[in-house]
Amino acid sequence: MKVLLIGSGGQLGWELCRTCPPSINFVPLDYPEIDLSDGMHVDRLVSEIQPDWVINAAAYTAVDKAESELEKARAVNGAGVGSLASSVARIEGRLVQISTDFVFDGEHGGAYPPDAECSPLGVYGQTKREGELAALEALPGRVLLLRTAWLYSSHGTNFVKTMLRLMKEKDQLGVVDDQIGTPTWAHGLATTIWRGIDRNLTGCYHWTDAGVASWYDFAVAIRDEGIACGLLKNALPVSPIPSSAYPTPAQRPSNSVLSKTSTWKDFDIQPVHWREQLRSMLQEMCTHA
Ligand SMILES: NC(=O)c1ccc[n+]([C@@H]2O[C@H](COP(=O)([O-])OP(=O)(O)OC[C@H]3O[C@@H](n4cnc5c(N)ncnc54)[C@H](OP(=O)(O)O)[C@@H]3O)[C@@H](O)[C@H]2O)c1
Repeated sequence: MKVLLIGSGGQLGWELCRTCPPSINFVPLDYPEIDLSDGMHVDRLVSEIQPDWVINAAAYTAVDKAESELEKARAVNGAGVGSLASSVARIEGRLVQISTDFVFDGEHGGAYPPDAECSPLGVYGQTKREGELAALEALPGRVLLLRTAWLYSSHGTNFVKTMLRLMKEKDQLGVVDDQIGTPTWAHGLATTIWRGIDRNLTGCYHWTDAGVASWYDFAVAIRDEGIACGLLKNALPVSPIPSSAYPTPAQRPSNSVLSKTSTWKDFDIQPVHWREQLRSMLQEMCTHA
């Protein structure tokens, strides 16, 4: 089985590289070796490599910057995914497309099922939704569309690493407590993707770790687990604040909780609570520090 990964240098891409099963003939690429916004270049690479599956872990992920860079975000997340999917269709391959909780507006009362109505609040979510639709149209029945949320990894920039840094620099922190979701170790998402490919699964699924937290809960857990494993020395005071006290160019959904019931069943995966996954990732950071 030959698998082409696009976005090998991102946090999910890095986890996919280190979890790739040895039986896979693996071709990991990243920008600028492959540029999703250049359809002809992507088409040439896909037809040269002839993969059975393409995993697209690449994206324009600057959520706030996207508000003033619609065309750039669309070229990668929307049109770029559409041309990639057409190239994959020409070689009769399959595509794993990674998407986001930001396709939802956060107004739903519970966990979002995969077939919930999409209504993005900002440019990033809108372009990711355009990419979803373009992939499904170009490759009917041949796309594994996996939406995820609140990703972190020991590689790259993310909330966990930002909190660890700020907790060493500041005297106290305020963190928003009116947006909820599920912190998700990209390592678990990577192994889920490999499981999906192994099972030849297609369709729309959701993946995050298990449980629910606010960003404030997540920050407190990072502090406490960081102290427990020796990455932090002192328990910095962390206060809950409303989103209105931390304005950002892009509006975030207040509810990003995704329902994973169908994923746990079809992928045959046991859910793991987000705090356990956080502990594992911090222990790994500690070991390599
Ligand atoms: N991070 C989250 O919390 C989160 C939440 C929900 C969904 N997701 C989705 O999960 C996936 C993985 O996210 P991530 O956090 O791993 O992202 P990431 O760390 O920002 O990595 C994205 C990768 O895409 C590459 N890239 C950007 N523009 C490209 C282009 N034109 N052509 C080819 N590659 C390009 C980047 O390369 P450069 O570094 O050189 O720009 C980078 O290696 C994405 O689809 C994202 O939308 C992420």
